[in-house]
Amino acid sequence: MQRIVSGMRSTGRLHLGHYLGVIQNWVKLQNEYDCYFFVADWHALTTKYDNTENLRQDVIDVVIDWLASGIDPEKSTIYVQSLVPEIAELHIYLSMVTPQNWVERDPTLKDMAKILRTKEAANSQISYGLMGYPVLMSADIMMLNSPLIPVGVDQIAHIEITRDIVRRFNNIYKTDFFNEPQPILNECSLICGLDGNKMSKSYNNDIKISDTEEVTAKKIMTAITDRSRLRRDDLGHPDQCEVAFKYWQIFGDAEQVNTVKCECEKGSRGCADCKRQLGALVNERLHDIRERRRYYEEHLDEVREIIRKGSEKTRTEAQKVLKEVRNIIGMY
Ligand code: TRP
Ligand code: SF4
Repeated sequence: MQRIVSGMRSTGRLHLGHYLGVIQNWVKLQNEYDCYFFVADWHALTTKYDNTENLRQDVIDVVIDWLASGIDPEKSTIYVQSLVPEIAELHIYLSMVTPQNWVERDPTLKDMAKILRTKEAANSQISYGLMGYPVLMSADIMMLNSPLIPVGVDQIAHIEITRDIVRRFNNIYKTDFFNEPQPILNECSLICGLDGNKMSKSYNNDIKISDTEEVTAKKIMTAITDRSRLRRDDLGHPDQCEVAFKYWQIFGDAEQVNTVKCECEKGSRGCADCKRQLGALVNERLHDIRERRRYYEEHLDEVREIIRKGSEKTRTEAQKVLKEVRNIIGMY
């Protein structure tokens, strides 16, 4: 079985964007590949180094959301980045061979710098650690020498840098030890936030996997609809219904979508009723996931044991790679 590695920053409880965009893909991949999924808590630290009180809980919350969503620890290896310190050593070696302008060019870094500048002065500097974001990510990938990396489009630039670093390392040390990783693009229905922008915790427009049914239903009542529609019997335009109809297309089957479309266009469907039904549908879809989430919340020892076992197994694999790397470079 081919090996796959992918990670997510520990940002706390995950939302439907994570679920539909990334996790659902992982759940499929774990049947075909030898999957390693990790919580990137060092990457979280690149921007949250001065706000660490929730760091530990954030890691647990991410893992619980994964398990609830169907990542199966019998099939996949789940670990935490900082529990595999070998990654930090590999990061040092990679940082030696990575030219400064490669990290400076990283477009994602430029976006993060923009966000940081809007914060208080104390936190607005790009740290040395944040500069190294793509190098650390390369270390994550190269640590398991994985040929395939499932990611979203926003991470493609990082995979490109990893490929460059792999080539440079192999070149400098005259080796073919490291694989040039290929991205597997997540095939996903990108779900927007309730206000039509990208779904994000920081925009406060998200639906969390862990939200209760009541909260979910309430949130969906705030979803943007066809703005030109003022009265219940105005003729609607599903194609201009910015959020609610898009959600129908993601969560409903063909017949349901068709019914909504026809009734909306005829003016026989009010937006409030429409969103009430939609809320029920979304809750139905999330029902089993939320049941499993509750189970793991009540069995935290099990979660911690999954993390411990997965991290230990990953360390064993990482140590093999690191031994080879030290040898290739010529370390003492
Ligand atoms: N940067 C990724 C994100 O923000 C998380 C990540 C860290 C990652 N290391 C990785 C993803 C290695 C894939 C492979 O989502
Ligand atoms: Fe959107 Fe439904 Fe309202 Fe039509 S009836 S505009 S699909 S919310």
